[in-house]
Amino acid sequence: MLSMIEYNERVSDDIYLMELRSERVAQMARPGQFVHVLVDSEGYILRRPFSICDTDGKTIKILYRVKGVGTRIMSRMIPASSMDIIGPLGRGFDEMDGSVAIVGGGIGLAPLVYLANTIKRGSMFLGFNGKPFGIDLIRNPGIDIRVATMDGSSGYRGNVIELFEAALNDERYSCVYACGPKAMIKEVKRLCNEYGMVGEASFEERMGCALGSCMVCSIPLKDKSGPKYARVCKDGPVFNLSEVIFGRV
Ligand SMILES: Cc1cc2nc3c(=O)[nH]c(=O)nc-3n(C[C@H](O)[C@H](O)[C@H](O)COP(=O)(O)OP(=O)(O)OC[C@H]3O[C@@H](n4cnc5c(N)ncnc54)[C@H](O)[C@@H]3O)c2cc1C
Ligand code: FES
Repeated sequence: MLSMIEYNERVSDDIYLMELRSERVAQMARPGQFVHVLVDSEGYILRRPFSICDTDGKTIKILYRVKGVGTRIMSRMIPASSMDIIGPLGRGFDEMDGSVAIVGGGIGLAPLVYLANTIKRGSMFLGFNGKPFGIDLIRNPGIDIRVATMDGSSGYRGNVIELFEAALNDERYSCVYACGPKAMIKEVKRLCNEYGMVGEASFEERMGCALGSCMVCSIPLKDKSGPKYARVCKDGPVFNLSEVIFGRV
């Protein structure tokens, strides 16, 4: 489906925010779902997956890092031009009861913004290497935001797991939502086990069809009779952390 670009601006060093007009996607989307984007250039037939970072019922936002050729082309696209998107795709975050913590690392913030804007209240722990970005997209006054930066330029100096673990000395959460590097998500799972919290995280894998047919994006999950394979595009990208086998992810 062709969607018109309303806005596409750099918000930090290599981070861009794009807003696309698509009432259908905006109204059907749930936090944690993604869109599959066809980069507008000949020769690039593989679509790129991006989390829906927010919606206002008429448009969706994508917060993206320029990583390779596809995202570089995206960063040069101008308002009023169109992009072909498919979505919303995948299984998003479940609604969980109780006190909520949200843990994000780097561009993993993208799906968590949408989640944070839809829940009543919670604490958000965000980690960045350098200058934080995208925090202004969180509109919910019920979210208490705490920041860690590796270079100490903002908030706690160190990684977001240290910040979250220190908070767990005094605070109790019943559930945790996470997105970020796999090493970070693995640590969130450890903390879920230690503090009796239920955890869900959004995972990234390279994708082909993003419709559940090609199995390119499979990851192993725990099952009674050994590992079973799940498709990140269709069964995820959000999985319960108790199911995920990290040694193999
Ligand atoms: C469910 C999901 C949600 C995502 N949400 C976001 C987001 O909100 N913001 C953001 O910046 N990035 C997100 N990513 C990662 C994003 O898809 C890649 O950074 C992007 O595809 C890179 O494309 P490229 O052409 O610039 O890079 P290249 O390295 O040139 O890409 C080459 C190929 O590898 C694939 N690829 C490369 N890196 C990744 C990756 N990390 N995950 C999946 N495929 C990859 C590309 O899609 C492309 O097919 C998400 C990935 C997934 C799976
Ligand atoms: S990308 Fe084809 S099954 Fe997931």
